[in-house]
Amino acid sequence: MGLFFALVPFIAQGAEMGKFQYEDFKKPERCRTCHREIYQEWRQSLMSQSFTHHWDDVEYFKLALPHALKLDKVAEVKGGCIACHAPLAFLTGDIPPKTPAAGTRANEGVSCEICHSITGSTEKEPFNFSYTIKPGKVKFGPRKNGRSSFHGVEYSEFIKGSELCATCHDEQSPYGAWVKETYREWKSGPYAREGARCQDCHMYHAPGKVARSGKLRSDIAHHAFHGAHFPGKMGGAVDIALYADVNQASPGSSVNVRAELFNGKVGHYIPSGSCEERMLWLEMAAIDAEGKTYYLTLNKKGFKGEEYTISDGKAFAYQAMGEIMGVKEFGGVKRDGNIPDGVRIFRRPFFDPEGRMTICQWYTAENSLVDYRIGPRETKIESFSWVIPQDVSPGPVKITATLYYSLVPSSVGEFLELMPSEYAPVKVNTVTLDIEVIK
Ligand code: HEC
Ligand code: HEC
Ligand code: HEC
Ligand code: HEC
Ligand code: HEC
Repeated sequence: MGLFFALVPFIAQGAEMGKFQYEDFKKPERCRTCHREIYQEWRQSLMSQSFTHHWDDVEYFKLALPHALKLDKVAEVKGGCIACHAPLAFLTGDIPPKTPAAGTRANEGVSCEICHSITGSTEKEPFNFSYTIKPGKVKFGPRKNGRSSFHGVEYSEFIKGSELCATCHDEQSPYGAWVKETYREWKSGPYAREGARCQDCHMYHAPGKVARSGKLRSDIAHHAFHGAHFPGKMGGAVDIALYADVNQASPGSSVNVRAELFNGKVGHYIPSGSCEERMLWLEMAAIDAEGKTYYLTLNKKGFKGEEYTISDGKAFAYQAMGEIMGVKEFGGVKRDGNIPDGVRIFRRPFFDPEGRMTICQWYTAENSLVDYRIGPRETKIESFSWVIPQDVSPGPVKITATLYYSLVPSSVGEFLELMPSEYAPVKVNTVTLDIEVIK
């Protein structure tokens, strides 16, 4: 099976390009007249911005599309990106769509009509926009007793399952590498076994009405879809505990510190999804009584590819992005952005056909060298040492662990002139352990 996929990647084609007209799909504003609150939730979520959002705009028009027109091997992403990010444009054959500035209906992104017209997938474990779709009078929904005067309602087992999400959240590159596997990570983890679906964490249920003239129900599905773009969803996503092997120490002696990081809230790996650009990292500092800060040294574990999981200000990467843009003698940008050296990074690096780390997921030939992310309910244990310098002030010392997350390495964000909010670090958690320095 693995070999089959490796030889014929990008085969999961359900939705057919150009089979429909824009008029076959109602605008979300039409749904808003009755489903006002759901519309408001959707509007605030990334689903409604999946094409217009600045970074998506940049990545498709500055990188993927020019690359697709230049390199045969990746030609299919010209429509492929659009099938997930602007499904209406794909289904109507508006490929490549005009940029978001033109205000076409591509801008509707993953709209109401997309999810509520999807009937299933051609794949048992879906990926690569393998949804089948039937727009029209009937909306597919989760209930057997919903009634509307405006549209028909049909109960759908598919819409209630994580497989709906998998049609867009799992993806194979033209080189056969799995470049998104949120569904597969979930499927092989504890939450799938316990029956907790994507919807249970990303579309929380609460009492209310789904439509103006609808029934009051005890458990309506909210369309929040909060994920990595919501600092509140990230905050506290990983628990941290700190342990030291001594309570007191003197300058010249060594303190060993252990940090345990537990992913107790995320139904898949953290980070997940767009791993080519996501980083989670742990900074370990000791702050003495006078406020002087010292950094602890990470003890390496010695696994294959570990060098990609330890920050190094001298490592450059992402050369392909400059080459596609025609930047002369482009040596890449800093692999790890501007985080301090020697810090543990939880990430899954992607490599292009020339073996260089890449943020171009469609140009990814290999990404199984090292996967050092934190799995669902997994605990990662890191150890550090600190030889107490002579100039440390006697008294209490605060050993502080801070876990940060960023969507995109800052070096890439700066190079592509993204909005700073797209790459600013978010604090996931921080804890402190006191020890005492005696002289
Ligand atoms: C004229 C008002 C009206 C409009 C416009 C409208 N709906 Fe509805 N819709 C309803 C009502 C009423 C219900 C039933 C609510 C209930 O059962 O509590 C409903 C239910 C639904 C359901 C749930 C079906 C189920 O399983 O219970 C979906 C999905 C849905 N609508 C999608 C849409 C979409 C997509 C649009 C825009 C194309 C839309 N609706 C436009 C009134 C409307
Ligand atoms: C990414 C896919 C997706 C998009 C986009 C989406 N929905 Fe839904 N919607 C769902 C799923 C999945 C459910 C069922 C959730 C469940 O089973 O817990 C649902 C449920 C509903 C329901 C029934 C809620 C209930 O509990 O009875 C209505 C009504 C609805 N959606 C309307 C809309 C409208 C209107 C929009 C656009 C503003 C929209 N949806 C956009 C996936 C989507
Ligand atoms: C038609 C394709 C499609 C389907 C179906 C779909 N998604 Fe998405 N989803 C996207 C795209 C595209 C994005 C990326 C938006 C962006 O960042 O531009 C996304 C983003 C997200 C995010 C991240 C938001 C953030 O804040 O970072 C979450 C969470 C999410 N989807 C959950 C779901 C769930 C749950 C389902 C199933 C009920 C689902 N999606 C179904 C296409 C889809
Ligand atoms: C047990 C709850 C839970 C379940 C189940 C769950 N998620 Fe999540 N998900 C989270 C939390 C919490 C976050 C925020 C932390 C993060 O970004 O990893 C998140 C983040 C995400 C992100 C952003 C990931 C990133 O790093 O960019 C996406 C996309 C997503 N979820 C999609 C899904 C899909 C699709 C499913 C089902 C296959 C699913 N989630 C199941 C809790 C859950
Ligand atoms: C199979 C569906 C699918 C395909 C094909 C796809 N994407 Fe995505 N894309 C997604 C989903 C889902 C997410 C959200 C993942 C997450 O939150 O981590 C995403 C995330 C992104 C992001 C990150 C957004 C952010 O804010 O961090 C960018 C940029 C992007 N895609 C651009 C592209 C481009 C360009 C292509 C074509 C080369 C493409 N995508 C192909 C589904 C897809």
